[in-house]
Amino acid sequence: MALREIRTNDDEILRKKSKKVDNITPTIITLLEDMAETMYEAEGVGLAAPQVGILRRVVVIDVGDGIIELINPEIIETDGEQTGPEGCLSVPGVTGEVERPLIVKVKALNRNGEEFIIEGEGLLARALCHEIDHLDGIIFTDKVIRYLDE
Ligand code: CO
Repeated sequence: MALREIRTNDDEILRKKSKKVDNITPTIITLLEDMAETMYEAEGVGLAAPQVGILRRVVVIDVGDGIIELINPEIIETDGEQTGPEGCLSVPGVTGEVERPLIVKVKALNRNGEEFIIEGEGLLARALCHEIDHLDGIIFTDKVIRYLDE
């Protein structure tokens, strides 16, 4: 495993749309492992592949309950809403309030290529939405309703 460089601020790659993963190759497995290591080292709760310069639909999340690896994640259902503070490893030092669904259901593939569904509430729902947005070139600051002082 290796640390990858986290792209920040005006790096154009953060605005590009990521491509679906067609084959889960050893390169994708290495990417998942490197992303997890990079996320933990940076003390983040989620990381999307474009944040490390790879335009593939790959996400890792850990909101405190262990690593979740998502390949080709898609939101299939949402319920309710929550407004709360959000930040991003690609936008250092910035926190803002963002409205997100309270509950989201996401369909994805695991590293073995098996489809699974994960339902997240609260912080996990927020992280799922935030990271999947990255795959479409959307940054949380696009959705901030109020910036908060650090
Ligand atoms: Co982010």
